[in-house]
Formats: sequence, C-alpha cells, structure tokens
Amino acid sequence: MKTTTRLLFVCLGNICRSPAAEGVMRHLVENEGLGDRIECDSAGTYGGHAGELPDSRMRRAAAARGYDLTHRSRQIRAGDFDRFDMILTMDDSNYERVHRLAPSIEAAAKIHRMTSFCRSHPGADHVPDPYYEGAAGFEHVLDLLEDACGGLLESLRAAAG
Ligand code: 4NP
Repeated sequence: MKTTTRLLFVCLGNICRSPAAEGVMRHLVENEGLGDRIECDSAGTYGGHAGELPDSRMRRAAAARGYDLTHRSRQIRAGDFDRFDMILTMDDSNYERVHRLAPSIEAAAKIHRMTSFCRSHPGADHVPDPYYEGAAGFEHVLDLLEDACGGLLESLRAAAG
C-alpha cells in the first residue's frame, strides 16, 4: 500500500450514507492499525446541508454499532479529484453526477460504486437513500456499508501486494 491512500465517500446530502461510510471505514482501518495509511472523508453532490452533523437517526444507529459520526457535511469540489485516490459513490445518481464533475479520464477512473465491494450482499447495486425511511432503512445502510468497507479494505490490501 502506498504511503497514504485517500478515500472519499459520496452520497447526495452527506448527512446519512457517506458520513456513515466514512465512519465505518475509519473504524475498520484504525482497528487494523492502518490509520496512518488510509485516510477517509466524505462529501455530498448537493450542498444544502453544508456544515451540518450527520442526521440524528444515522448517528444513533451508527453509535449503537460503535461508530461515532462527527463529520460536517460539505459539497464535493473539483479539487477532490486531485486530493483523493478513490471516490466511492452510493447510488447511480451520485455516480453519474460525480462523473460529470470529473475533469479528466484519469479523474473519472477514481470513481467506484460502493456496492461493488460488497461480499455478502452479492445482488446489491446501490446503497439506498434512507432519508425518508424508518429505522430499518438506516440499519440496512449500515449492513451494506460494513460489508462494502470490509471488501474495500481487502481490495486495497490485495492491490498493495
Ligand atoms: P444522504 O441522504 O444522501 O444519504 O445524505 C439524504 C440527505 C438529505 C437529502 C436527501 C438524501 N435531502 O434531500 O435533503
């Protein structure tokens, strides 16, 4: 693994799915002693929640699994394509919007679907927006993210040789 690999998780509002992905991945990375090798951040394609903490329902569901979500929402910006090595999107809409922002083919190659790293949810092709859902929606998001983060770490390790 090169000195530092920087990961950016992206959803729509950056208050539910992507800050949860950031928190789950950071927790996993720190537990594996890789906190100085893999950095995690998150952003939204929509900037209307900028500065806000994650949604209280997401924070509560995450806290029950041991994840402390303290990220402040921000909108993705052009400079993120320089700063980050991988950009992980939650659904097709995020994927397409982030693609439209990519300044080059090399930048676009950094964009991946988060669910492509799932190992125990083989049919999953997106992390569903839980914003208008009940508590089960938030649990399902965390189930998918824990699975995908495990697969993502495995993939980074494999790439590092
Ligand atoms: P997220 O969820 O994209 O997972 O952060 C949403 C948060 C806010 C809105 C939509 C989705 N919104 O429309 O305000």
